[in-house]
Amino acid sequence: MTERNLNFSDINAYISEQSSKDTLRFITCGSVDDGKSTLIGRLLYESKMIFDDQLSALCKDSSKFGTQGTDIDFALLVDGLSAEREQGITIDVAYRFFSTDKRKFIVADTPGHEQYTRNMATGVSTASLAIIIIDARKGILEQTRRHAFIASLLGIKQVVLAINKLDLVEYSEDIFNKIASGFDLLQKEHLYFTHVQAIPLSALKGDNIVEKSDKTPWYRGPTLIKWLETVEIEGHVDRPLRLPIQYVLRPNLDYRGYAGRIAAGSIFPGQRVKILPSGVSTLIKEITTMDGPIKKSEEGSSVLITLVDEVDASRGDMIVESERPAEISDQFRAMIVWMNEQEMIPNRSYIMKVESGLINIKILKPRYKININNYERLPADVLELNDIGSCNIALDRKIPFDSYNENKTTGSFILIDRETNATVGAGIIRYALRRASNIHWQTLDVSKQSRANIKLQTPCILWFTGLSGSGKSTIANIVEKKLHANLRHTMLLDGDNVRHGLNRDLGFTDQDRVENVRRITEVSKLLVEAGLITLVSFISPFAAERNTARQTLAKGEFIEIFVKTSLVEAEKRDTKGLYAKARSGKLKNFTGIDSPYEEPANPEIILDTEKFSAEECAEKILSYLAEKGYV
Ligand code: ADX
Repeated sequence: MTERNLNFSDINAYISEQSSKDTLRFITCGSVDDGKSTLIGRLLYESKMIFDDQLSALCKDSSKFGTQGTDIDFALLVDGLSAEREQGITIDVAYRFFSTDKRKFIVADTPGHEQYTRNMATGVSTASLAIIIIDARKGILEQTRRHAFIASLLGIKQVVLAINKLDLVEYSEDIFNKIASGFDLLQKEHLYFTHVQAIPLSALKGDNIVEKSDKTPWYRGPTLIKWLETVEIEGHVDRPLRLPIQYVLRPNLDYRGYAGRIAAGSIFPGQRVKILPSGVSTLIKEITTMDGPIKKSEEGSSVLITLVDEVDASRGDMIVESERPAEISDQFRAMIVWMNEQEMIPNRSYIMKVESGLINIKILKPRYKININNYERLPADVLELNDIGSCNIALDRKIPFDSYNENKTTGSFILIDRETNATVGAGIIRYALRRASNIHWQTLDVSKQSRANIKLQTPCILWFTGLSGSGKSTIANIVEKKLHANLRHTMLLDGDNVRHGLNRDLGFTDQDRVENVRRITEVSKLLVEAGLITLVSFISPFAAERNTARQTLAKGEFIEIFVKTSLVEAEKRDTKGLYAKARSGKLKNFTGIDSPYEEPANPEIILDTEKFSAEECAEKILSYLAEKGYV
């Protein structure tokens, strides 16, 4: 396609030629054997982006592993990972670069089969076009629908429907038309692309890749390369400024600079801006660089700026264009792609990573999940690996945001597990929910401190966790009795008892246990605010929820007590006869048997009930409280 002869002695001209071209980012979606790798390999080959040494290696490999006889097997070039070669599948998102005289291209090559939905979502988020590859012999498959749906959901507007392997169906116009109109129907009913360009191809033979094929005289449209070179790139023109503040620089009292990467729009001195969430208005004073101040800076650049007024702006705030500011909210309707083997649990606290930083969030019960093979909405209690679902989310503070439709950068987020730090999901913000926005925090005159003062004590939570039958309730009971005898003001919340009232609607699934502990956390926080020494005795099997409880309370208020008893011992005691029931299969989801218990990593107190009596354990807690000055 390109006549260019790379003249490496004139490398500067080459670089400047490259940097003046615009870049189209696209993704390719197709299944293992639709010919995706062959297509990408063909694009790289035609654009002369394969170097001679790679080419000779390729010829060698082609005869060894290849499936194309003596022809070059382009797929081998792309399926560079040895694991892929052996299994014949593509497994991760790979980014590849090529260029023609007109444009530069970055291809996100994403795998096709179902369990890799998450990878595809990753690839799509930076792309402005998707090539959906279809094997002409097979037509539109479930996975075509799936790819199209994810691409559409994530805001792709331009699609190339690459109807491939036409050589294997005798370059049939009829087959091409049937597939193209079938996709058209899908698009009309379920998808939101602005343009779908169907192109008849044989990636293997090179038909309609660069040159028009004489095998498809009935096709009057562009070749693939021609289309990729000329398709309009979704304009970043004139998006309103979004600059999340990453650092505040204060080397001396006279200088206060704000550093960050421009997420959208452009910035220039004299521009009227707002700081969000405060809403304070000011002007950009200067954009500082190593080589002095500059006149303008664009989306994607990292900048250091100063403001005309001494305003209060800090890390996590966002500088936005005054006339077209971002919105602010702490509750959203979102679409979430779940990416973790461990299912998403409603009401568990996760970390949300957005442009302006990290925020604690809770995902409420999914409204529905989508069967992306037929676009049906299904009821769902949780989201499992690769599920896509609509959920409401609640943040613990307000953030500036745009809906994903307005701005992919400030409208998307990833979700991180608090315990493992793993990325467990990704999502897009559809819109803010306004339900809670008219509820304000009422300031009270009598404080926790003053309530505690007249009780002459320091309120705290003694959080007992351990297996059923470990002795939590027995020990908690003794501790409360002794505190009470010493005129301390206490309250004891016990799992079995609370489940008779407040939590009588909850059972023992993971979700219900999470909700059980969430409610207890809130209630015990209120009791601490009342100035009470609060004893909480629940199995509370998950580290995540115990840690959320710890973080919900002030420093030093949460005392985690691990009542340590081996399963063997707890089962031997079996005071309530529940272990026997669980073993015989009459009781499901029993902790320690068929439901997990996660031991605390760093509890304040560990009580070994196999070595010490309940009395002795209680004494240990009382001495802890005395030593640390709680009583
Ligand atoms: S938690 O896991 O949600 O924290 P919680 O402490 O409220 O549990 O309740 C545990 C008590 O419920 C146990 O002491 C036991 O008496 C009873 N129970 C009934 N079914 C189960 C079960 N499947 N798993 C654990 N405990 C159960």
